[in-house]
Amino acid sequence: MPRHFLTGLELSASELHALLDRALELKAAPHASRALEGRSVALLFEKPSTRTRLSYEVGIAELGGHPVILRPGEMQLSRGESIGDTARILSRHVHAVGVRTGPDAELEALAAEGSIPVFNMLTAGHHPSQAIADLLTLREAFPDRALSELKLAYVGDGNNVARSLALLGGLAGVEVAVAAPPGYELEPEAGGTRTHDPAEAVAGAHALYADVWVSMGDEATADERRRALAPYRLDDALLDHAAPGAIALHCLPAHPGEEITAEVLYGERQRIWDQAENRRHAQKALLEWLLDEGGS
Ligand code: CP
Ligand code: NVA
Repeated sequence: MPRHFLTGLELSASELHALLDRALELKAAPHASRALEGRSVALLFEKPSTRTRLSYEVGIAELGGHPVILRPGEMQLSRGESIGDTARILSRHVHAVGVRTGPDAELEALAAEGSIPVFNMLTAGHHPSQAIADLLTLREAFPDRALSELKLAYVGDGNNVARSLALLGGLAGVEVAVAAPPGYELEPEAGGTRTHDPAEAVAGAHALYADVWVSMGDEATADERRRALAPYRLDDALLDHAAPGAIALHCLPAHPGEEITAEVLYGERQRIWDQAENRRHAQKALLEWLLDEGGS
């Protein structure tokens, strides 16, 4: 059976810690691994992307592999060919496939009907490729502390990014607190603590995390989201309520003045641009794990 990375919980806690160790090694020596030599990886984008595309495409090339960018609108998928048949064809030509789409069920169908590893490059439900880079950024920002000694507070919409942080942060031992307005909460099953009060979530936190208020696919409810989420802006005052030395994180793209202030986004206390770079390093370690021939 191929390995998959759909929610991220396919990793055990020890595999996740090993992946982060490996990502740090690969960051220090980006050309040290040729793990994907002679192998091709398809990247299927049904939604726009800047960071995910760049980091996976360049990361695969750095590992000696060949990335193949696919747009569903240019494929027979757009003319009714099934996900199952697409999965069967992908399995004959490439060694793994990453998918960015809306429904999580589409990703699960590809994994079920193909015979190659499938990895999640963002769905409506999850963004685990982002979460592993976020954990790597925490490791780097707090080198003297174990992840289990850290608290991360996510402030905003209880969305795909919040869910993956709660799930994978929980797996790594990070205390994750989510502050979201009524109607936008994360479900309790994702783990972490939940509150409507940003100040309560950020108390004692080592990292504060923001994401967009209007995710891809949520455009129809943009106005009501902006109204509900207005008290959940990541600004310097909120950082002042956190632990001394707390950092600001954001998965990007950002809307300065909306979910985060420009002062924080470009300021001294953020690790946001390192976090964006870390996508590549973390995902290279993930690709090594997914395509490890000794793996189960
Ligand atoms: N953070 C993130 O996934 O960015 P992109 O949408 O640009 O890929
Ligand atoms: N929650 C956002 C993340 C973008 C990287 C979205 O799904 O659009």
